[in-house]
Amino acid sequence: MSQIVDSFNRQVEYLRLSVTDRCDFRCVYCMSEDPEFLPRQQVLSLEELSWVAQAFTELGVKKIRLTGGEPLVRTDCEQLVKLLGQLPGLDDLSMTTNGSRLTKLAQPLFDNGLSRLNISLDTLNPELFTQLTRNGKLERVIAGIDAAIAAGFSKIKINAVILRGKNDHEVIDLVNFCRKRNIDIAFIEEMPIGVMDERKRSRHCSSAEVRELIEQHYALMPSSKRTGGPAKYYKMADSSIHIGFISPHSNNFCHECNRVRVTVEGRLLLCLGNENSVDLKAVVRQYPGDIDRLKQAILGGIKLKPQSHYFDQQGTQILRFMNATGG
Ligand code: GTP
Ligand code: 5AD
Ligand code: SF4
Repeated sequence: MSQIVDSFNRQVEYLRLSVTDRCDFRCVYCMSEDPEFLPRQQVLSLEELSWVAQAFTELGVKKIRLTGGEPLVRTDCEQLVKLLGQLPGLDDLSMTTNGSRLTKLAQPLFDNGLSRLNISLDTLNPELFTQLTRNGKLERVIAGIDAAIAAGFSKIKINAVILRGKNDHEVIDLVNFCRKRNIDIAFIEEMPIGVMDERKRSRHCSSAEVRELIEQHYALMPSSKRTGGPAKYYKMADSSIHIGFISPHSNNFCHECNRVRVTVEGRLLLCLGNENSVDLKAVVRQYPGDIDRLKQAILGGIKLKPQSHYFDQQGTQILRFMNATGG
């Protein structure tokens, strides 16, 4: 049982740990076109990241997901996986990646103990892919997904953010891509993070619409699949794959939130849609390797976790971009 319990009696068992704000893509919903990245000095070192992870697991966190930016642009990320894989009490070490470096890194990640991979793929159209990522190459990502399957990962999930007028006509193609490979897929509603304008608002596409589209072609059955994440899963009636929907707008999952984030600057961020945070970097830099101090800071900070995100409240805008937040 986790000792990290917030003011609303929610137990925190899941840490999303960001290892970099950098990325080799510039997805339109995630970053500005010309982002400024943090100077190295402000970013936690691999050793500091491992202390933070240790403090969380000693407090009862069982699941850690490495995020970014793109975690695999961080040099030696696979070594971090190895370090964290040895932490007692950790049941599930996973990563969310854009897939661009998996042809090279899938095998070492698997061998170093990574258990699950979520890979972003919003379109199967090479031109649209380059447009949405502002520079990515689709074929590299597809080769990366296939390399991950070949390396032995059995729990792969594709993440697709669906934007009206961009990739909403590709929902069935994406489902078929996953059926062919026997991997799960989650459709995500774009979250209002970064600068919001009318253009962004008008491309919102709800999970309900995406589900209706799928159900015109395939039967979906309720599923008990839970990953401790925000997705609500269905099973395809004629296949073993699961289809998830992550719906921060239409299906607020805050009441059962079990997670916190640590940003790449070592800021313990208690909710994606709220700015309350605790500066863990100050603690690790003042007391290097002192896990008890980190634990105290985490336990003190958890009281700041809000009941719910504020995305839907009039006038509230979260201006930090996703890459700096840790997707
Ligand atoms: P698993 O359940 O472990 O497979 O992971 P996940 O689906 O939670 O993680 P992933 O990194 O694949 O994230 C998918 C989407 O869910 C991303 O757009 C995340 O930003 C979003 N997400 C994850 N956690 C939260 C959260 O606490 N709040 C909100 N609003 N969105 C979240
Ligand atoms: N809204 C929803 N999902 C987002 N992601 C990045 N930015 C956003 C956003 N604004 C997703 C990516 C990736 C995961 C880490 O977060 O597609 O799958
Ligand atoms: Fe990079 Fe992922 Fe953000 Fe795209 S969504 S720019 S791949 S961090």
